[in-house]
Amino acid sequence: MAYTLESFIDDCRVALKDNAGPAGREKVRALLEQLLANPVFVDSAVGPAAPIGTRKLHEDADLGFVVLAHCNPRAHRSPPHDHGSSWAVYGQAVKHTDMTEWRRTDGGTAAGAADLEAVRSYRLEPGHAGVYDVGAIHSIDYPEGSRFVRVTGRDLDYVQRLKFDTAARKATVIESATAG
Ligand SMILES: [Fe+2]
Repeated sequence: MAYTLESFIDDCRVALKDNAGPAGREKVRALLEQLLANPVFVDSAVGPAAPIGTRKLHEDADLGFVVLAHCNPRAHRSPPHDHGSSWAVYGQAVKHTDMTEWRRTDGGTAAGAADLEAVRSYRLEPGHAGVYDVGAIHSIDYPEGSRFVRVTGRDLDYVQRLKFDTAARKATVIESATAG
């Protein structure tokens, strides 16, 4: 039987209740890959007829995690950023997203002077999901037509986050959430 959004949400609840730490997030990543293997879900969430933009498929009243469909209007490259006190799982559905994971080398955790080094770059292909844990820094680069499903630990609209300018060597607070 196909794995549905409802089953995914139920299984995420169990996984995150059983494991409050990184193991729970890794389980969500694996479950998202299972969900992305269901073509009916992919079509309804991010298929050709899905609305352009970002929309919330689920916000969990109990645990606070959010499932988002991203039907991106155009190609985009984000600056390195974190997800503050939240985590994020990105699951590619259509085309690809190039991911770079960064490490902050100046010892800081706040806005202000900041140095980063890239530690890992790879391409997320359809059906594959990656986990970006609390405090992890990444940047994303995707072509026109790229679509993905993202799960965040909390609604990022209410989470203070940082973005990084590697040329200016500084971190600034992101005021509101975007597709990054
Ligand atoms: Fe992100």
